[in-house]
Amino acid sequence: MRHLLDVCDLSVDELGALIKTAEDIAKDGKKYARALEGKKLATLFFEPSTRTRLSFEAAMIELGGSVIGFSEASSSSAAKGECVSDTVRVVSNYADIIAMRHPIEGAALAAAEKSPVPIINAGDGGHCHPTQTLADLLTIHREIGRLDDLTIGLCGDLLYGRTVHSLINAMLRYKNIRFVLISPPELRLPEYTQNALRRAGAEVLETSSLEEYMPILDVLYMTRVQRERFPSSEAYEAVKDCYRLTAAKLADAKKDMRVLHPLPRVNEIAKDVDDDPRAAYFRQTLNGKLMRMALLRYLLSDEALNADAKLPEGEQTSLKCPNNKCVTNCESDFVMMAARDEDGALKCRYCETKLDK
Ligand code: NCD
Repeated sequence: MRHLLDVCDLSVDELGALIKTAEDIAKDGKKYARALEGKKLATLFFEPSTRTRLSFEAAMIELGGSVIGFSEASSSSAAKGECVSDTVRVVSNYADIIAMRHPIEGAALAAAEKSPVPIINAGDGGHCHPTQTLADLLTIHREIGRLDDLTIGLCGDLLYGRTVHSLINAMLRYKNIRFVLISPPELRLPEYTQNALRRAGAEVLETSSLEEYMPILDVLYMTRVQRERFPSSEAYEAVKDCYRLTAAKLADAKKDMRVLHPLPRVNEIAKDVDDDPRAAYFRQTLNGKLMRMALLRYLLSDEALNADAKLPEGEQTSLKCPNNKCVTNCESDFVMMAARDEDGALKCRYCETKLDK
């Protein structure tokens, strides 16, 4: 079977096929109304969610399947101390596929290692969020008509914003993409995403100004400052209002530029932007459902169910992951494994944090 833990678990051809299916569903959804009849999705959400969970559930229902699950950790046995791998072992007896959101980084991989059914990572802490990227890719494709030759500005919390990390990993595989990274110094990308950009030789511009590169952007991807991931409320307060996109600031943007946001927004996009035709964030939420429909159908196809799980390779190590939000440090008796970057550097197999010798 196949899991979706990181967006790179899907090849560019597979992403293209999912986009094609999603566009077909948008045209004639009725054709797919019985595609997953008799199948069950479990949504295990240990962290708050509106769009991701409800769009997964709507997606499964519109494919003729059914849904079980929980929407907060306090109503699951996690509250009694159960570890994620035990939870998925149990739930796999009740469901054909699992979508899981967890505050701990690497939790989805830890779950997949023990799961006899496909696991979809619906967000693992500040690490990654591959199905939001599917929504983002379909939005760019439908709104701009291509996924190559784009200048993409990513603005706000690039450090803790898991949607940003996954979107960069995905866009690195398309041709001629220029990245404009817009953040205060405290919220720059984590080292593993910076390394991915460097290894790919990507063209990157960095600024702390939202206005500076506005005229050259094809996509402006706004993000919320992720309050729940900060080490202290003082650290959050210092940067919480770092950017606010307003209609006036869009005056210098291209006429066919698009503003995306994974939502929820707090105050980083003023309401006066909503009626601008370039504001694509509410259409993006519909695209999330369409891509989740395409994904569920694909992962439950015979082709995917009979394929190799392709979990990332690992090697035993006595090193400890320095990230205290990593699953290796949060679950008892966890066997730490290291992985190697393409340039040979050792990183935690679960959360990708660099391991220092
Ligand atoms: C994002 C998330 O959960 O990472 N939301 C979403 O899934 N649409 C972004 C966020 O919470 O800021």
